[in-house]
Amino acid sequence: MQTVHSVSQVREYVRGWHNKGLSVGFVPTMGNLHEGHLSLIKEAHARCDVVVVSIFVNPTQFGPNEDFDRYPRTLDADAAALVDAGTDLLFAPSVDEMYPLGQNQTWVDVDNLGDYLCGASREGHFRGVTTVVSKLFNIVQPDVAVFGEKDFQQLAIIRRMAEELCFPVKIVGAATSRESDGLARSSRNGFLSESERKLAPRLYRQLQQLKADIEAGERDFRALEKRHGEALDQAGFQVDYLTIAEARSLAPAGENDTNLVIAAAAKLGQTRLIDNVSLAVVRTP
Ligand code: PAJ
Repeated sequence: MQTVHSVSQVREYVRGWHNKGLSVGFVPTMGNLHEGHLSLIKEAHARCDVVVVSIFVNPTQFGPNEDFDRYPRTLDADAAALVDAGTDLLFAPSVDEMYPLGQNQTWVDVDNLGDYLCGASREGHFRGVTTVVSKLFNIVQPDVAVFGEKDFQQLAIIRRMAEELCFPVKIVGAATSRESDGLARSSRNGFLSESERKLAPRLYRQLQQLKADIEAGERDFRALEKRHGEALDQAGFQVDYLTIAEARSLAPAGENDTNLVIAAAAKLGQTRLIDNVSLAVVRTP
């Protein structure tokens, strides 16, 4: 694996591969890699000849009171894991390399989809994500890019952006990788205290219970959100949202919607966890 830090070096490698007719897969990350990230790399390998991974903790997607400064930076361990995963190129730029003119003035922003769920409480977050992912797409020029379904809204927004801006890249979603107790793997799980870590899988269990209630025929979505949200609060979470949304628009689902995603964000202490489950309901005549 080669590790490079500059835009021009990435372009040189990728130009060489494309000239040889090789397809390039891309997995953008913020590092502190876990098995969830590695499963995306596996997916990229299955679809492409070579795989590029980026590690960049992107300042423009963190709000002023969020955890940019304390976000875990573990480049040496990450690089070792990437070698084991068979990565061809690691792009690990500095903030100056990605934002050479300082304060960013050009933004890529997706309306509507960014208003719901995490977008409602993390103002400017998705604008930072879509801006940096656009830049990374322009730098790497991948044929395929893989994103996790764990960040369901991020994946939906990036799909929309890529289509509307005609990026010549196929966006692939990969299933959420979980610990044996069901907790979705996340770089933020390391912030949890021992007792918080024990409680954390409850988030996924609650979403599964809500899904089971819908499958059993309950259709008052707002009442279900309230009941299951309160159950999480009582268990010790501070729920930001727990929403049954229409899976494409991400708007709160109505009775007639059939493709649903149940998505939640909740804090345990200072740590914000997100998770989601999808389900298709059969409409009763
Ligand atoms: P990061 O949180 O590092 O995640 C990188 C990729 O890994 C994302 O596509 C995310 O959805 C995926 N991922 C994280 N946990 C996962 C899990 N448990 N199972 C499967 N996939 C998982 O998401 C970002 O970084 C950034 O917003 C980024 C897209 C890199 C832009 O800065």
